[in-house]
Amino acid sequence: MTSVTKRVPIPRNGVDYRGKIVLAPMVRSGELPSRLLALHYGADLVWGPETVDRSMIGTTRKVNEALETIDFTRLPSQGAKDPHRDQKESLIYRLHPEREGKRLIFQIGTSDPERAVQASRIVAKDVAGIDVNAGCPKPFSTSGGMGAALLQTPDKLCSILEALVKEIATEFEIGISVKIRLLETAEKTEMLVRKLVATGITGLTIHCRTTPMRPRERAIREQLKMIAHICRESGVACLMNGDVGNKAEAEKLVAEFGVDGAMIATAAESNSSCFRSEADGGLLPWKEVVEEYLKTSMEVENRWGNTKYLLTHLIPGKQPVYREITSSKSYYQACHILGFEHLEAQAKAVDEKIGITGDNEIQSRRGKKNKAASSIQENHSKIRKLNTENQKPLAEIRLQNEPVIALAA
Ligand SMILES: Cc1cc2nc3c(=O)[nH]c(=O)nc-3n(C[C@H](O)[C@H](O)[C@H](O)COP(=O)(O)O)c2cc1C
Repeated sequence: MTSVTKRVPIPRNGVDYRGKIVLAPMVRSGELPSRLLALHYGADLVWGPETVDRSMIGTTRKVNEALETIDFTRLPSQGAKDPHRDQKESLIYRLHPEREGKRLIFQIGTSDPERAVQASRIVAKDVAGIDVNAGCPKPFSTSGGMGAALLQTPDKLCSILEALVKEIATEFEIGISVKIRLLETAEKTEMLVRKLVATGITGLTIHCRTTPMRPRERAIREQLKMIAHICRESGVACLMNGDVGNKAEAEKLVAEFGVDGAMIATAAESNSSCFRSEADGGLLPWKEVVEEYLKTSMEVENRWGNTKYLLTHLIPGKQPVYREITSSKSYYQACHILGFEHLEAQAKAVDEKIGITGDNEIQSRRGKKNKAASSIQENHSKIRKLNTENQKPLAEIRLQNEPVIALAA
């Protein structure tokens, strides 16, 4: 007798997570150029950075014909009781329909079914799925009842997923999924997973760490087979996440633990070519990846501050150019420092378009290095402070040196 494998049907415009090695959702590190880079090197699917429902609600969808992107923009709400008429719009989310197409999953930060549906409706027709973040342990997320806080309120989490399945999956024919962490005991995790797979979701990602665990601590894999088993019984695809280093390792782990696929975060943040198969040559030298990243960032006119942030992950800290990059102020300077002369003309043009031409002169390579390195640190602590103090939507918090992009209507 042949056994029939149960599968929650994948909606017409959705995507099956089975057999996929994917880029994890990463705030700041998962913006458009990082996702395009991951796809370029072989990622099967890419998750966008968590975007909080409140910051998406009220955005306007605009086709950016020059960049061939779709931009979701809004006037900044921070402290603006009486916004000036000439206020520049904030870019909340940018995607590239042709290059990301049906391989992009939008991750939402939410603690409320109605808001989740309202925000998802804005982006649903441009993505292959909506994923609910139920794993972020940071106070700015959990204090609003979002992220890992949802693991403690499973009924609320299920009602969010059910609302998305009922309203969004039906109307837009895309899949709904969830990303969770492990609970304190296998029994508790099992109970939670059983509830989640009964909501109509098509996929579940398990980050194999508990909420209090720090990123440095090794992922725990003891519960993985049990979780994969429950998902399989219910026909829900199961992705594993946590300490997956590259595609070859992902394939081994998938076979060992019986999961359907794997998700990679920090390894991709420091070298996106981790998605290349060994047959294609595996991991590439950092400089090659950095060149590709700069080209991609310029193509989509990524905010300079965000590009620089990821450059400081892609360039190994021991490299002499690392510190020079931390003090660079434009695409042109970065290309010059890295010796990418062939990209300098393009870089100047992009700098001009995004309004950072004033700093195009090559700075003295001495003197400003330490100041710049500490300014990045400073920006990060400012973001943390802002997030905890004001609980602003994450997508509205910007690095101090990131200009808000002005968009043509
Ligand atoms: C910079 C950064 C930002 C992250 N942002 C998110 C996020 O927006 N949503 C989310 O669910 N997880 C987020 N995470 C967690 C990752 O998606 C992933 O679960 C975690 O890093 C473990 O995977 P790894 O061991 O491959 O790094 C983030 C991680 C990093 C390093």
